[in-house]
Amino acid sequence: MNEFKNVVLLKHPLISHHLATIRDKNTKSDRFRQSSQQIFKFLIFEATKNLPVKTVQIETPLEPTKVEKINDEIKIVCVPILRAGLGISEIFEKLIPNVIVQHLGMYRNETTLKPVWYYNKIPDKLIDDPKKYYIYICDPMCATGNSSYEVIKLYAKDRNIPQENITFINLISCPVGMKKIFDEFPNIRMYTSAIDEKLNENGYIVPGLGDAGDRLFNTMY
Ligand code: PRP
Ligand code: URA
Repeated sequence: MNEFKNVVLLKHPLISHHLATIRDKNTKSDRFRQSSQQIFKFLIFEATKNLPVKTVQIETPLEPTKVEKINDEIKIVCVPILRAGLGISEIFEKLIPNVIVQHLGMYRNETTLKPVWYYNKIPDKLIDDPKKYYIYICDPMCATGNSSYEVIKLYAKDRNIPQENITFINLISCPVGMKKIFDEFPNIRMYTSAIDEKLNENGYIVPGLGDAGDRLFNTMY
């Protein structure tokens, strides 16, 4: 249980096992990426339960039958927040048919802890009814929440996508970041595998896993 009604904290022995691997400072990048992606796969599985399906008629080799497929009138959008989001979002692209990928690039200014934008691949205007969009924001970390907040705002405010259709999937979150997001966007949904205690004086989640981007891409120099 947690105090945020729209936050699902996914618990499972396999998730705990992979979390232990990515938290361990001695885990090297390749193992770190594998375990992160394993956890992310479970999170995606749960987080996409809201996708609408429709019944269609097909024929098996034996007889006609009705089956359920993901409704192809909706638009499923995966939003990796560069850079660290890229290390996990490829799993989303493999699992979900016909996914649209909208990359967003930002990094945290280490002094102000505010995001600095450098890339934005969201079209200025939607080409369809906002209700038809299902947005899945992918980033391993929700620390201050400043980065993910900016991204959620782009979809919920600037493009009027219903909050219920916006899901933020992350590996490790913390109450400070969750509060920042849910105070403004109470109806979005979040799926996470850990809610850690707090941030340290440098804005890092503790106990956390360190710098997710550096650990995923082996840039800890
Ligand atoms: C990390 C992480 C998030 C952000 C979280 O990215 O991947 O995007 O920090 O922190 P916040 O909740 O306080 O905003 P970082 O800025 O280190 O960039 P990177 O992905 O390029 O390494
Ligand atoms: N970004 C990270 O990669 N890790 C943290 O703990 C906080 C922000």
